[in-house]
Amino acid sequence: MLDIQKIRADFPILSQTVNGKPLVYFDNGATSQKPQVVIDAEIKYYNEINANIHRGVHTLSQLATDAYEVARGKVKDHINAKFAHEVLFTSGTTHGINLVANGFASILKPGDEVVVSSLEHHSNIVPWQMLCEKTGAVLKVIPINDNGELIIAEFDKLLSDKTKIVTVNHISNALGIINPIKYMIDKAHSVGAAVLIDGAQAVPHLKPDVQELDCDFYAFSGHKMCGPTGTGILYGKEEWLNKLPPYQGGGEMIKEVTFEKTTYADLPHKFEAGTPNIAGGIVLGTAIDYLNSVGFENIQAYEHELLEHATKRLSEIEGIRIYGTGENKASVVSFNIDGIHPYDVGSIIDKLGIAVRTGHHCAQPIMNFFCIPGTIRASFSFYNTKEEIDAMVDAVKKAQTMLS
Ligand code: ALA
Repeated sequence: MLDIQKIRADFPILSQTVNGKPLVYFDNGATSQKPQVVIDAEIKYYNEINANIHRGVHTLSQLATDAYEVARGKVKDHINAKFAHEVLFTSGTTHGINLVANGFASILKPGDEVVVSSLEHHSNIVPWQMLCEKTGAVLKVIPINDNGELIIAEFDKLLSDKTKIVTVNHISNALGIINPIKYMIDKAHSVGAAVLIDGAQAVPHLKPDVQELDCDFYAFSGHKMCGPTGTGILYGKEEWLNKLPPYQGGGEMIKEVTFEKTTYADLPHKFEAGTPNIAGGIVLGTAIDYLNSVGFENIQAYEHELLEHATKRLSEIEGIRIYGTGENKASVVSFNIDGIHPYDVGSIIDKLGIAVRTGHHCAQPIMNFFCIPGTIRASFSFYNTKEEIDAMVDAVKKAQTMLS
């Protein structure tokens, strides 16, 4: 059982008022709020050890390097990677996906196939389209059903020896549907394809075990899991990371540079050119410690209660349609009210202190499937409460009255 009031006290922003009303923050899918320990760790880094890493012999540089590598080790343990050098620091999920897509340009031949799903965020569509344009490979798309679930029988049919990589999210950002990724990974491997999992929306809710999943790549962002913006992780199996070329050239990713030839550093440095977000990486480690102290089993159980409460309460509203009604869901409710544009509802409830995301959620193909311009998305975190959900339902009802 979580002591929610105690947890809420860890997050200074949650006690604010917005537009004169207590803040109800339901835009956790876009970014999570930060606990005081994370904010303090960022300040402590800059106050006490700020220096560049992997470069200096001086004490501060050593301290910063050690703290950065300790954070890498924490991520390795958290996702159960086999080696710390399989954990690359990135600026976020988008960076990680682009790194892999760019690397596959040296592998794919015309006619090879890349399989994506209809449930993807644009960041897990566009890099693969760019890759296909560059290489002559063909993009294949797994369709969804009316519940917003992937049609797995169609996925099975798309796979063949032409499939070189399958790339799918663990949890859909727009609908909250949890995909059957273990089945998909095993099935893709049976035809020799690699698999990338976009874990951006999963890591705030669960602890992925990359060895158990057996995925080849798993990308996620720090800022959605109580960490700083501009931080992220790309996990890659050692054999794949050794096979892929570097994404960016620059300092710290080399063994030796001459004008005739440059040789590259070993993992993970081959993929970490330039000065990284040192503070961010270290503080991501603090965020992971914080989440583990709350406990992912507790988080999941409580968020499930929030999801059930929100689904039940929102269903009372006449003319509501919820998108993403599959069985297996994270704490996200995406909905529309008959005859009212989602933006109008979002704007009115913002005046009542309630922060939701409205629009296509960077997932236009899903909106096209449902023939809608967008949805109102309420995405809940373990620091939200049922009372806040009730306040949102009241606010939506008020907006409905005003706009009808
Ligand atoms: N990808 C983030 C979201 O779904 C920004 O809102």
